[in-house]
Amino acid sequence: MNAGRTEKEKEKEQARVHIRWMIRRDMPEVLQAEQLSFEYAWNEEDFLRCLRQRNCIGMVAEHGEKVVGFMIYELHKNKLHILNFAVHPTWRRHGVGAQMVAKLISKLSSHRRTRITLEVRETNLHAQLFFSRQEFRAMRVLRAFYEDSGEDAFLMEYRFGDDIGEELDETVNRIAQYEEN
Ligand SMILES: CC(C)(COP(=O)(O)OP(=O)(O)OC[C@H]1O[C@@H](n2cnc3c(N)ncnc32)[C@H](O)[C@@H]1OP(=O)(O)O)[C@@H](O)C(=O)NCCC(=O)NCCS
Repeated sequence: MNAGRTEKEKEKEQARVHIRWMIRRDMPEVLQAEQLSFEYAWNEEDFLRCLRQRNCIGMVAEHGEKVVGFMIYELHKNKLHILNFAVHPTWRRHGVGAQMVAKLISKLSSHRRTRITLEVRETNLHAQLFFSRQEFRAMRVLRAFYEDSGEDAFLMEYRFGDDIGEELDETVNRIAQYEEN
């Protein structure tokens, strides 16, 4: 009988990564992971335009010499907002994404940035399950959020420690928001 994977077996399958700032030389590997990950992928100019913004940060996850994942996020006064996040398909389900989220969480603190937010496509069930596993919660439905497909997004949020306050930027009655649209 298959008793399921033991904790030890799971540990062995994890790929330990080093997470560092993205540099220009990473771009070919980042673009490849991007194209293999999304139907509506960013091109190089999209990345560069974003990274030129003062509050925008790019990071990559390296395993050995390879870039196996990346994330782009914005720094706001009270939160980090993820704009793009992907793991190369070959390296999925080895804990790479979880290590990237852990890196972001390590940047939060109870007195400054207390939250991480991102929008996830309604059809991207894998990402919803992944972020929910990382203790993100779906907070709101953003109707027709994406210009490309007209799809809805779920706004997902991670809260640091015992932060149970209202949303800091916009206080919205979620049920009213849902019914209005
Ligand atoms: C979502 C994504 C980043 C996850 O990265 P990953 O490195 O494979 O994730 P991890 O291995 O760290 O997964 C940690 C846990 O999350 C959950 N999880 C991850 N991928 C999952 C999936 N496809 N289905 C269900 N649960 C999943 C599991 O609980 C997993 O633990 P387990 O493997 O022990 O069961 C990756 O699938 C990806 O790049 N997808 C395409 C791009 C994308 O959708 N990005 C998000 C945009 S919003």
